[in-house]
Amino acid sequence: LDNGLARTPQMGWNDWNSFGCNVSDSLIRQTADIMVSSGMAAAGYQYVNIDDCWSTKSRNSNGDLVPDPQKFPNGIKAVADYVHAKGLKLGIYSSAGLTTCAGYPASLGNERRDAALWASWGIDYLKYDNCGDHQGKNGQQRYTAMRDALAATGRPILFSLCNWGQESVWTWGMQTGNSWRTTGDIQSNFGSVMGILDQQVGLEAYSGPGGWNDPDMLEVGNGSITGTEGRAHFSLWALLNAPLIAGNDLRTMSADTRTILTNTEVIAVNQDWGGRQGTKISDNGNLEVWRKPMSNGSVAVVLLNRGTSTATVSTTTSALGLGAAASYSVRDLWAHTTGSSSGTISASVPAHGAAMYVVSGGGLVTPSPTPTPTGGSAIK
Ligand code: GLA
Repeated sequence: LDNGLARTPQMGWNDWNSFGCNVSDSLIRQTADIMVSSGMAAAGYQYVNIDDCWSTKSRNSNGDLVPDPQKFPNGIKAVADYVHAKGLKLGIYSSAGLTTCAGYPASLGNERRDAALWASWGIDYLKYDNCGDHQGKNGQQRYTAMRDALAATGRPILFSLCNWGQESVWTWGMQTGNSWRTTGDIQSNFGSVMGILDQQVGLEAYSGPGGWNDPDMLEVGNGSITGTEGRAHFSLWALLNAPLIAGNDLRTMSADTRTILTNTEVIAVNQDWGGRQGTKISDNGNLEVWRKPMSNGSVAVVLLNRGTSTATVSTTTSALGLGAAASYSVRDLWAHTTGSSSGTISASVPAHGAAMYVVSGGGLVTPSPTPTPTGGSAIK
């Protein structure tokens, strides 16, 4: 969406994956504090996003949404002021239907009213879900109505579509929003992360500066996701140009989780100004190679081992699209070391793990593949 926002994938945090409906003023303020003190803000995380269940169960007599007085005793504007004073931005949530997924009032038919209210509070980001009665309108109509309502406020508000890949949203996402969910909800286990990864193949042509395919929020540090799995998940989401929205409890995160989320070398791949989404270039059972052409003529590569024992995953500089050179520089984005290669890129990768490199030398011969759209899922 050409609203000046998300020229690179948005970065932030959202409460849903760890807290569900238990969102509150104190959670948001504490998270904003830690986003700064943990180094996440310095690494690029900016948005602190409130998900479902923030309002009362019905609108007031004016027809406006009302913050739940138990969860937000000071209202939302006070929280926005607090978050802004930290140099961060605040997001909110609604749905393009009559109710949200948790059954709270949502915005279909009230787009202008709700957008104006959020703008008056200082909201910077809207995650817009697909639950509730659609009143016979299709997704493109419902999401376009909110796009126009947000624009009418005059406030820059990042517009995150959450319609789970329905109605081939990637084909109309770029003109409608700053990102669009491509699948149903992620869960905090490795199988779910891999299932979502599989549904991204073929969607790479649709994303770019201003509009991104969204394979859902991060589960790094959550559920059964181990450190090894978390590094693979983060590497892949970075390579896919996914919005990097942490979904863990920042207040209790381990040092390992924080190190993953603040790996600025991996984040730099995600935030590369050229905005070309990475693609899978080989798939050998459980062993996969993913590549992303970088603006400076290098290539980012993820070597993924989906299997249950350590395995060697390999590719070549020519498969990565690099031209001939006597020697290539190979930067390991997790070990933070630089080596060299004469043309083979190979790593011993632990079970459910990934290695990630930036390889340079020879120049990009194949800048960007033109894939056939096949991915995405309408399964909620
Ligand atoms: C849907 C969305 C989730 C979350 C919940 C809230 O399932 O896909 O990301 O926002 O609704 O109810």
